[in-house]
Amino acid sequence: MTLSPIFEVVAETASEIRSSLAGRRTYEDGVNPSGETQLEADVYADRLLEERLCSLSSVGKYASEERDAAVGDGEGYTVAVDPLDGSSNVKSNNAMGTIVGVYEESLPTTGRSLVGAGYVLYGPLTTMVVADDGVTEYVIEDGEPTAVREDLSIPADPVVYGFGGRKPDWPAPFASYAETVATELKLRYGGAMIGDVNQVLTYGGIFAYPALDTHPDGKLRLLFEGAPIAHIINAAGGSSSDGSQSLLDVEITDLHQRVPVHVGNTSYIDRLEETLAE
Ligand code: F6P
Repeated sequence: MTLSPIFEVVAETASEIRSSLAGRRTYEDGVNPSGETQLEADVYADRLLEERLCSLSSVGKYASEERDAAVGDGEGYTVAVDPLDGSSNVKSNNAMGTIVGVYEESLPTTGRSLVGAGYVLYGPLTTMVVADDGVTEYVIEDGEPTAVREDLSIPADPVVYGFGGRKPDWPAPFASYAETVATELKLRYGGAMIGDVNQVLTYGGIFAYPALDTHPDGKLRLLFEGAPIAHIINAAGGSSSDGSQSLLDVEITDLHQRVPVHVGNTSYIDRLEETLAE
C-alpha cells in the first residue's frame, strides 16, 4: 500500500499547524500521558492530525504522544504521531517538528514493524523528510510538498553533535564518550529532537538524548520519537542505538515507553556502544 496519501495529509496539515502557532503559545490545564504540560498548540495539532489521518482508508488507528490510547478501529496502518515535537520551543520561537511513524502492526510493537516514517521541521522554512522508498526532503508551501533532495544519505564526514540532558546527570561512560566527541565535532543543540536530528542528517554527526542517572530510560518516547527517527536515519545509511542495540529492536510493553536515543553516523554509534559496554 502506498504511503503517499499519508504524507500528503501530513504536509497539508503542517501548514495549518504552522499558521496556528502564533495564537496557541499558552499552556492548557492538562498534562499528556508522559506527565508533561500541554500547550494549546500540542492539543490543536493532535486533533487536526487525528481527524485528517483517520479519514484516510489506509489508516486504521491513530496513536499520539498526547493521548493515553490509540483511537480508530479500521483496517490498515497504525500511525504513531508526535504532533509537536519540542513544543516548549514555541515560547522562545525556536525550531519544532511533527513526527509520524507508520506501523503495520497494532501498538505497542517494535520499530521493525515500521513501513515508513517522516517528520516535518518548522524552521525558517517548513520542510518534510520522508523515508519510504529512499529518503526524500520536501519543502512545504501552502500545504504542497515539493521534493528538493532525493535519495538523501547521511554525509560520510561527520560535522555536528547535540546531546540532551544535564552533564552532571550523564552516567560516567556517556560523559567520557561525550568528552571525546566534543574534541571532534561542533556542538549544535536546539532542544527539539527534529531540529537536532535534521542537522545530523544534513551535515553528518550524532544526536543523543542519553540515559541519565536520574532517568535511566532517558526522556524520549520509543514509539513516537526514537523508532521513527531510527527508521529514517537507517534508511539514510546511518545507525541508531539505545546504548547496546538498534532502537528498532528494543522490546516494548508500554505505548509511552521512554528510551535512551542515539542516532547518527554508524562509526559514532559503534564507538558509543563500545564505550558504554566497557
Ligand atoms: O520530546 C521532548 C523534547 O522536546 C525533544 O524534542 C528534545 O530533544 C528534548 O525534549 C529536549 O529536552 P531538554 O529540554 O531536556 O533539552
